[in-house]
Amino acid sequence: MSRADSSPGFARRGPDLTCDGVSLSALAEQHGTPLFVYSAARIRSQLAAVRSAFAAVTHRVHYAVKANSNLSILQLLASEGAGFDIVSGGELERLDAAGVSAKDAVFAGVGKTEAEMRAALAADILLFNVESAGELELIEQVATAMGTVARVALRLNPDIDAGVHKHVTTGTGRNKFGVDLEEAARLVRRAQESTALDLCGYHVHLGSTLRSPEPYLASLDKLLEFLDQSLIHAGGIRYLDLGGGFGVPYRPDDPDLDLPALGSAVAERLEGRNLTVLLEPGRFLVAEAGCLLTRVQFVKRSRARRYAVVDAGMSELIRPCLYDAWHAIEPVATREGSPQEFDVVGPICESGDFLGLGRPLVAPQRGDLLAVLAAGAYGSSMSSNYNSRGRAAEVLVDGTRATIIRRREPIADLWRLELP
Ligand SMILES: Cc1ncc(COP(=O)(O)O)c(C=O)c1O
Repeated sequence: MSRADSSPGFARRGPDLTCDGVSLSALAEQHGTPLFVYSAARIRSQLAAVRSAFAAVTHRVHYAVKANSNLSILQLLASEGAGFDIVSGGELERLDAAGVSAKDAVFAGVGKTEAEMRAALAADILLFNVESAGELELIEQVATAMGTVARVALRLNPDIDAGVHKHVTTGTGRNKFGVDLEEAARLVRRAQESTALDLCGYHVHLGSTLRSPEPYLASLDKLLEFLDQSLIHAGGIRYLDLGGGFGVPYRPDDPDLDLPALGSAVAERLEGRNLTVLLEPGRFLVAEAGCLLTRVQFVKRSRARRYAVVDAGMSELIRPCLYDAWHAIEPVATREGSPQEFDVVGPICESGDFLGLGRPLVAPQRGDLLAVLAAGAYGSSMSSNYNSRGRAAEVLVDGTRATIIRRREPIADLWRLELP
């Protein structure tokens, strides 16, 4: 469970795990498993923590929709005043479907299509985070054709290794994201010549699961140096988008990212500059606010291992398989006895289909309910139908109310678009 035991979210009442006091066993009974359960109070408190850490800086929080794109989560964050960070036309449409404003959205991604650009301009998004010369040209063409001006920020690739898993590092010279500083200088001049482009900011996003302020500060220093070297355009620059990537403690001994220290150091560096900082946290806002409930189907032994085969797997939570990620796994109702190590594996026909290996569990039995913690980010949003499985249902707990915010996907929907 979270180390910050006073935080809202998942805590025990006696032997039973609850979400803000609501029984997880009861939710599983009512809605079935696999089931994602989220704490609205925890999402709010995580957002408050970001705001408090950056209180000394003029800033805006743009939630990274990809972390968990459920419409109710988007509505919750919008009602708390957050903007959004999107990476596709689909995410833009989600904002519309949720009835939240796209005017506070920033749009990143290396492969934006012309249609996506048109839709984003029509929705009057705050800005495009531009990732290449080709993209800048195309945005200019689309904006010109629409008789409008596109606000753009250049995504700089500062060539900084954030020291995270190779699949979630994005700011090194070997990653596809952003433009290097030489190319950026050329693109700045190019943007300034255009009447259809308003170059209003710079963007960096180093990667995900960062646990120390240093890489952020190193990239901010590079960004400011770049800004100061290109004095000619400094007048138009109003935004510095520092990206997201704030890590959360998945393991009990993971170091916390010291957000208040990061916020103070950013404030110090930006003193006297008339700039608004944009932040794009995804994981930090929702990861610890969510858990994945799953039932033990079978317990089995091989010569080498003990297994608890559960009804959730890589189709609900691909992070362990994709990133070697570690999630705490706890029984929803504790049982007396001494724990033994079990591999908690899913039903999918892949050896990579596991939720946790070598986990201490006390005599798990068929029907037991397990909670995979910190599963609110990149769980449901990365889920798939692999092995023709319907995607899981989702419940949002807000105070004493537990509301279903996504129904379990009916199996017949899986082939609805197929033409036999
Ligand atoms: C441009 C951008 N911003 C923000 C994020 C959010 O990252 P995190 O969820 O780790 O905060 C991502 C994640 O991939 C991203 O690509």
